[in-house]
Amino acid sequence: MTICLIGFMGSGKTTIGKELKEMLGKKWIDLDEYIEIQEGKKISDIFEQKGESYFRELEHIYLKQLINEGVEIISTGGGIITTPKNSEMLQKTCSIYLEYPFDVLYQRIEGDNNRPLATSYEALKTRFLNRLDLYEKAAQVKINCRDKSINEIAQEIITYLKK
Ligand code: S3P
Repeated sequence: MTICLIGFMGSGKTTIGKELKEMLGKKWIDLDEYIEIQEGKKISDIFEQKGESYFRELEHIYLKQLINEGVEIISTGGGIITTPKNSEMLQKTCSIYLEYPFDVLYQRIEGDNNRPLATSYEALKTRFLNRLDLYEKAAQVKINCRDKSINEIAQEIITYLKK
């Protein structure tokens, strides 16, 4: 079953995905990066030119495609759980929610021009709070990542997978 990493912007979905790829020797794809390659555009340009709902549709098409192709590990984008059909698809995978307190995430994402939704502290915090239930709903398991190293988080995921 495909392992899908979910969580807010800055929660290390890409970094942990890469670490798991190395540790498990499995095929890993970063969905945002895959969308950029397939569409020949940066995520920020897709948002600017076509809008968020168009981007959410692309997320759906490519997530479905990668799961059907049997890709073993997928790092998703932070907003994937906002689309009900994506959440439903994630619930059928081994979906892992990387959980952090908001302030840690904010420090990592503030001022990042490549993230079109990384705006002010208040706006981001509202977005974060509105999404908490959605991550919980889409996830099979939640990993509390606070104060843990990349390696420790990956080990915890591997221990969960062996159960
Ligand atoms: C988004 C998160 C981004 C990217 C896009 C939208 C979001 O991915 O998919 O900018 O809505 O939270 P990361 O979580 O990898 O930053």
